[in-house]
Amino acid sequence: MRNLTQDNITQAVIARLAQTPDPRLKAILTSLVQHLHAFAREVKLTEGEWMQGIEFLTRVGHITDAQRQEFILLSDTLGLSMLTVAMNNDKPAGCTEATVFGPFYVEDAPSFDLGEDVARGAPGEPCDVSGVVRGLGGEPVAGAEIHVWQADAEGKYDVQRGEAHGHRARGVLHANGKGEYHFRSILAEAYPIPDDGPVGDMLKATGRHPWRPAHLHFMIKAPGYETLITHVFRNGDPYLDSDAVFGVRQSLVADWVKQPDGRYKVEYDFVLNPAGEAR
Ligand code: BEZ
Ligand code: FE
Repeated sequence: MRNLTQDNITQAVIARLAQTPDPRLKAILTSLVQHLHAFAREVKLTEGEWMQGIEFLTRVGHITDAQRQEFILLSDTLGLSMLTVAMNNDKPAGCTEATVFGPFYVEDAPSFDLGEDVARGAPGEPCDVSGVVRGLGGEPVAGAEIHVWQADAEGKYDVQRGEAHGHRARGVLHANGKGEYHFRSILAEAYPIPDDGPVGDMLKATGRHPWRPAHLHFMIKAPGYETLITHVFRNGDPYLDSDAVFGVRQSLVADWVKQPDGRYKVEYDFVLNPAGEAR
C-alpha cells in the first residue's frame, strides 16, 4: 500500500497485524494502534511533541536498572498499575482488597519467627503489628505465608540504601495454627516515591507531589487461596486522599495507636479469597 493518508493509515496498520498467530497479541496490538492513533488525532500531536515523548521514554529507559524501575513508576503515577490491579482483583465482598505491588519487594527477604523484630535496626519508632489471616468463610488460615516490607523513618526502603545495609524492615513469617500473626517493626511513615528522574519531572510539570501515605506492604500466600498483595495504610496520614500512585482503599486504613510504653501498635485482619472464587 502506498500514498497512505491521515485518514486511512490506521486501518492500514491494523490490516498489517491480521496474520498475528497469537489471537490475544493480535487483539492487544490492534487496540493499542487504534487508541494510539486516536490519541494523536485528538491532541493534534505536533512533530516536536512526538519527539519530546520519545526523549521522555528514552530517559525512562536509561534510568531503569535492577534497583530502579522507572517504567513501573510511570505506570503507577499514571494510574495504570492500580487500574490493572482493580480489574484483576474483583474479589467477593468481605475479602481484603488488593493494591499496587510497588517496586521494593525482594524475593530473598529473611525469615522470622512470630514475635521477632523485622526492622533489624532500620531507623524508626518501635511498633507492634498483629492480626489474623482468615478465609472468606471465617476459617483461620493456619501457616499462611506472610511477606511484609516497609520504608524506614527517613522514607527509604533498604534496597534504596545499597547492599551494604542488608535486609531491614522486611521479612517472611508464618501465621500460627489459628491464623494469628504478630511481629515487631517500626512505625510506617509517609515517603516520596523516587522523583529525581523523568517521572519526577512529569510530576513537577503537572503540579503533583510525589508522596505516598504511610503504609505497610503485605503479600500473603496459602494453598487453596488466591495470593493477596496489599498494603495497610495509617489512619490520619495527610496523603491518604492524594497518594501519588492512587493505591488507597478505605478498607485498608487502620489505626496506629501509641501505647503507654511509647511503642506503636497496629492490628489488621486479612481475609483471603478461596482460589477460583470469582465475584
Ligand atoms: C511503594 O509503595 O513501595 C511504591 C509503590 C509504587 C511506586 C513507588 C513505591
Ligand atoms: Fe511502599
